[in-house]
Amino acid sequence: MTLPEQGLSRDEIVAALADHRSRDLPSDGRAFAFVYDAGEELRALSRETFGAFMGVNGLDPTVYPSARLIENQVVSACLELVQAPEGACGTATAGGTESVMLAVKSARDFMRRAKGITKPKMLLPETAHACFHKAAAYLGVEVVVVDVDETFRAIPADARAKMDDDVVLVVGSAPSYAHGVIDPIPELAALAQEHGVLMHVDACVGGWVLPFLRDVGLDVPPFDFAVEGVTSLSMDLHKYGFAPKGVSALIQRRRELRDAQYYACARWSGYSIVNSTTLGSKSIAAMAASLAVMSHLGKVGYRANAKRMWDATQTLLAAIETIPGLRLLAKPDMNLFAMTSEGDVFELADRLTERGWLVQPTYAFGRSPAHIHFTIDPGNAGRVDAFIADLRACAADLPPPAAPPAQVLALLSQLGDGAPAGLDSGALMASLGITNGQLPTRAATIHRLLDAAPPEVREKLLILFVGELFS
Ligand SMILES: Cc1ncc(COP(=O)(O)O)c(C=O)c1O
Repeated sequence: MTLPEQGLSRDEIVAALADHRSRDLPSDGRAFAFVYDAGEELRALSRETFGAFMGVNGLDPTVYPSARLIENQVVSACLELVQAPEGACGTATAGGTESVMLAVKSARDFMRRAKGITKPKMLLPETAHACFHKAAAYLGVEVVVVDVDETFRAIPADARAKMDDDVVLVVGSAPSYAHGVIDPIPELAALAQEHGVLMHVDACVGGWVLPFLRDVGLDVPPFDFAVEGVTSLSMDLHKYGFAPKGVSALIQRRRELRDAQYYACARWSGYSIVNSTTLGSKSIAAMAASLAVMSHLGKVGYRANAKRMWDATQTLLAAIETIPGLRLLAKPDMNLFAMTSEGDVFELADRLTERGWLVQPTYAFGRSPAHIHFTIDPGNAGRVDAFIADLRACAADLPPPAAPPAQVLALLSQLGDGAPAGLDSGALMASLGITNGQLPTRAATIHRLLDAAPPEVREKLLILFVGELFS
């Protein structure tokens, strides 16, 4: 579109946007990724409070005191959940990635001052979320990958063997997104403490579930500030806090660590800045909605949802065990997990898509084979029985895993050295059936291709693909 000369009517605009919206993933309990939805009542409360705080700018909490009051309330709730000690503090951020990036920045800057480390490294389990690699790339921190065992948990002895004087940060997940397992946090934290370095726990996905699973009697492995040596922890409100997208929290054990996360600049001719997060002007709408949702649900509500999601997970895991050819990659500590099949797992994903489910096909990396990822939320927890019936039908007679065609593999090997001159990425996408920014319903060919490609080629293909989506 071009900007209209004469503005359109409200009705025209709302209808056009509703049409766009009709193509999106619905929150109807048929998605096993992306959606963290606790129902229409909370959605309505979110909408109302999000709208009410749309115009509040978190850039300057002295001008908008509500920004400070709301952030302090949200962070206080988080501090209690993760057993943060006296003196701990936090920041509301825009999401898990931002919380992680700020934890890495804090570690880099704090350790530069404390120990004079100028070539910082972080010890990062193979299963840690990609946003740590992004943080490393943005912030000039080297990643040292820590191996994981057959349960996909980081191996502390490997971390120990890779520890050196340039390490500023050790990372563990609680749990990892792909497999839903919690790393051995006490062992990793003890190693960090022994070497006088920092330890971040990525509880982006677990921070708002694990405390409630513990409340309802689950034996949750230690993962929070009760573990000495854990210095920071990220926990997303926009996942299992059931807030709308755009809010997470980064908790720091001590104020001096949060000071190293802040950024101030008085070296220009305009207003001096001090930013707790990466953005300057920022909306606090999602944060306000998050406070509304958590106040409405209360501990009782979160506990009930946690129990419901855990029970649905157990039902699903038990069913998978009985379906020939399917296999769980690891017994999860929470309500998310990875499942694979003897037959072609991407064909299985296509069959489920054709039956109206959204699942997340995931490529082989390191120890982890190609698989389908499942995130259980209160929405899909209510549909588990229907899903199991479809899963059973779709898993029957799967063909063996298929290799991508040889000419496509040849093209991929060229991509490893950069896009070949004259490559028509639009035509490449069209040849894969990707049109108008949409994957075809049957996407197995594309997934097999990405699965067969080495990670650096996958990354190049993904950049080409997304480049085709946007004007
Ligand atoms: C364990 C973990 N860490 C970090 C992230 C990144 O969070 P976001 O997508 O909110 O940036 C995710 C997202 O799924 C996650 O599961």
